[in-house]
Amino acid sequence: MKPKVYVTRLLPKPAMDRILSFCDAKVWDGELPPPRDALIQNVAEIEGLLSLLTDKVDAELMNRAPKLKVISNCAVGFDNIDVQEATRRRIIVGNTPGVLTDTTADFAFALLMAAGRRVVEGDKVVRAGKWKTWGPMILLGQDIHGATLGIIGFGRIGYAVAKRAKGFGMKILYADVLRNKQAETELEIEYVEMNRLLAESDFITIHTNLTPETHHLIGQEQFEKMKRTAVLVNTSRGPIVDNVALADALRSGKIAYAALDVTEPEPIPTNHPLLTLDNVIVVPHIASASVATRTKMALMAADNLIAGLKGEMPPTPVNPEVLKKK
Ligand code: DGY
Repeated sequence: MKPKVYVTRLLPKPAMDRILSFCDAKVWDGELPPPRDALIQNVAEIEGLLSLLTDKVDAELMNRAPKLKVISNCAVGFDNIDVQEATRRRIIVGNTPGVLTDTTADFAFALLMAAGRRVVEGDKVVRAGKWKTWGPMILLGQDIHGATLGIIGFGRIGYAVAKRAKGFGMKILYADVLRNKQAETELEIEYVEMNRLLAESDFITIHTNLTPETHHLIGQEQFEKMKRTAVLVNTSRGPIVDNVALADALRSGKIAYAALDVTEPEPIPTNHPLLTLDNVIVVPHIASASVATRTKMALMAADNLIAGLKGEMPPTPVNPEVLKKK
């Protein structure tokens, strides 16, 4: 008998094949996430859950899944899962770190450049038939080369963004709870207090996890400290930025531009104040969305799921203490 699992969305075929070779899998094949009641109904008999960041995996769900051994999240972020609760119940949790680092860093840089050089606005001008001539004052943006980049959160992705910024001749500041002296020497970057980062950066990019401490880490007070020419990029989690304060900062000229891959909530309602502004780019949480990377993430999630079902340590566990011998 294969172990029963629930997969909350259709994944790339190589990962589905791997899961189906080992598991008796029920797969939610909708484009949208399974509604809460469908999710809850489908976990009663399962030993493994392959979830996405759009699925809330909390105590209520775990109560309904008494046989659950493993939760494998197909994302590096796992703020959708109550890991403490899973650990308390000795359910192992896995995520997909590493494989999406460079793809996400590429995308953060793409947003940074698109915002700095007003690429999306330029495209809109052309499509609207407003491109009349070459003009010396048309769509002037900000140089990337030589600018100061502030990186908030210096884990794998923050580091990968710094490497790209180095190639563009940027001066790089970073703020984190942990200092990375090796990276400081290697990339000639500077560890600074948050307030200094906010005050001195031309571009600010966020790469920290969403936790109760980082919720609305960037809000009105922080926008007041930024340069009026600052460009903010967020590819981490939407709730790290107070988007109402951001809309106000962009409208009133406290900062110049923002580019967001993530919002609060997701999807952002089409009547949100941010979407009335020209100096913001919003895309639908696609920083890791390359064919190769999404396949690698799904395969890694499949491997974590299968290892957890076998009672083995998943390749990338979030709460390894669950399976460590006492
Ligand atoms: C993650 O993995 O946490 C990203 O937000 C989506 O790839």
